[in-house]
This record gives sequence, structure tokens and C-alpha cells, in this order.
Amino acid sequence: MYRDNPLKHVTWTDYQELPVNDRAPLFLRDGKPYHILFAQQYDRPTMERLCDLATRVRKIAKTRGGMRFLQDLVSEKRAMLYFAQPSTRTFLSFYAACQILGMQTAEVRDATTSSEIKGESQEDSVRTFSSYFDLLIMRHPIGGFAERIAWLLSNTDRPVPVMNAGSGKDQHPTQALLDIYTLQRSFDEHGGIDGKQIAFVGDLARGRTVRSLACLLRHYKGVKAYFVAPDSLQIGDDILEVLDAAGMVYEVTDDFRSVIPEVDAIYMTRIQDEWDQAQESRAIDTSGYHFCQEDLALLKPHAILMHPLPRRDEIDPAVDSDPRAMYWRQVRNGMWVRVALMLSIFERDNEVDRYYQDLIR
Ligand code: NCD
Repeated sequence: MYRDNPLKHVTWTDYQELPVNDRAPLFLRDGKPYHILFAQQYDRPTMERLCDLATRVRKIAKTRGGMRFLQDLVSEKRAMLYFAQPSTRTFLSFYAACQILGMQTAEVRDATTSSEIKGESQEDSVRTFSSYFDLLIMRHPIGGFAERIAWLLSNTDRPVPVMNAGSGKDQHPTQALLDIYTLQRSFDEHGGIDGKQIAFVGDLARGRTVRSLACLLRHYKGVKAYFVAPDSLQIGDDILEVLDAAGMVYEVTDDFRSVIPEVDAIYMTRIQDEWDQAQESRAIDTSGYHFCQEDLALLKPHAILMHPLPRRDEIDPAVDSDPRAMYWRQVRNGMWVRVALMLSIFERDNEVDRYYQDLIR
């Protein structure tokens, strides 16, 4: 598994100076992402392959024999879940994905219970994890920390793969991939993701899921994005530059109600005020960026409503029973996509293809 590793030949200082597009190839093994760190690592064929694989796994898992097959696929590997930030869904989704593949897991969710409290650096703690485990799944408040760890481990004799489960205000690639899977499934009979209009609403400045998903959408043809937020919470210029470079069309607006009837998907987000020491964002009136039951009448019949969750009051729970509310489906899709990602990291995806071919024969 630990084949020659391009990261070994790059110093950390040189790495940090590289533009993101030049970083992405350093994390590939045999043309596939080995460390999963940021959305710019994904192109369209890789995403389509991942979605197909997730669907195959989902179908195989419906039977007892299928579950038994899946549980043996990666059963010799162990995964470490290091979550230095709060999490319910993402943690359990990764945990459940490991269980489906028969992988044993361990977790550190509170750094005060680890040797960091004795003054150990986070880098040393993580290197310790790599001594016992074969996969490191990590959530961390510092943007880019997962990249630093992937680089660090690449320069050791146990360069185990790193999956970024949310880094700072920066990136959340596995959430964005499950969002792509949800969009693809939802528009399966309506021409796929190409040509769709998608609105992102809420805290786009600090919402890492939006930042990652916007980057992925640039690979689809004719997609238009609307970034709907008050000025102080608008999407960062760094993301708009990525979209500009790809020639993707977008609009930046603060008028949510005028956007609702136009779009095929609405991606709601909560205000991320945990980042805001002075609590300034609590003073912003965000009530105009809530989706209420009356808004359902404005929404196109085939449009979908998404949310990475957790929600506060930006979606009225009365909306949940509408068939266009897709956020609970998103949660379950996340588990299948994470299984698919682990299968590709450990190169067991072809075994799933073979099993699936036999199943449908
Ligand atoms: C998101 C996150 O952690 O970035 N949650 C998630 O992983 N599904 C969104 C959020 O916390 O608001």
C-alpha cells in the first residue's frame, strides 16, 4: 500500500507555496485520491465513479449475504477517528461506514483526554495514531491541518491515508461529495446535475461545506450558483476565483425570496457563530434567510431542499414532510459515500464491482 509517495519530495515550506491545483496531484495514488483533504482533488470522472460505487454498496447492503461480503472487505484494517471539534452526524457516519466494512475503530473526541494535555504536540499525537491504525479520519478547527498531517505522515515509514472530516472554516470534502451524490440521485430522472441552478443560503463566509461543494459543481456543464447571504456572510473571493477560472456562472445576492422560484436546489446553512469571538454575527438579522412552510409554494415541483445539518431555525421542521426536503436523505447518503471512499483508498472497489455484477446477473 505504501508505494512511492510524491509528498516525500516536497518540503512543508515549498508545499505551502503551491497553488491548490498543484497540490492535488501530490495526494494521488494510481490516479485516485489517497488522502482526502480538499474538494479541488476531485474531477468529474472520479466523482461519478464514487457515486456509482456508493450505489452498488447501498444495493449490496440490502441482503444478509451482501452485508457479510462487505464486512470482510477491509476487515484487516483499523481506523482512528480523531475529532477535535464537535460532531454528531459526521462522526457517526464515518463510524458506521467503518462498521459496514468490518474495520475496527478507536476514537479521540476530546483532546483533554489525550497526551496533548501533557504538552505533546498535535503532530506527535497524530503520529502515534498512525503507529496503531491504518486510516486516520480527522476533524480539526485549524484550516489546512489535515493537509499538514498528510504531509507529515508521508515523511514517516507509516504514511497512512488521512480523511478530512471538516477543517476549520475551510473545507469539508466528504460532505461535499455526499451532497453531489444526493444531487445526482435527486436529478437522476431530470437530466442529472448539468444545467441545474443551485442556491446556497446562510453563512457562506464560514460554511466549509458550501465552499467545498461550490468547487465540485464547477465540473458540471451549465450549472449556475446563487450565493444568497447578507453582505458580511457572503462567500469568499477565493472560491469565486476558482469558479471564475472554470467559467462557472453565478450570482451574489441578498434577496432570498426572489431566488426560490428560479432554482432546482436550495442548500441552506446555519450561522456559524462559534467562530465569532465577539459574537458579532449574532447581531445580524438572518430571518430573511429562513425557509418556511409558505416558501414551499414558491419552490419548483422537482426542486430539492438540502442542508448539511445541524439546523437551527433556518428550516421550519414543518417542511420536513415535503418530498422535496432532502436533508435526512443526505445524512444516509453520507454513510454510503464514505464507505465508497474507503473502498477506493484501500483499492477494494473492484471486488465490489465483481460482486455487484453477479448480483444483477
Ligand atoms: C457541518 C460542518 O461541520 O461543517 N456539519 C456537518 O458536518 N454535517 C455544518 C455545520 O456545522 O453547520
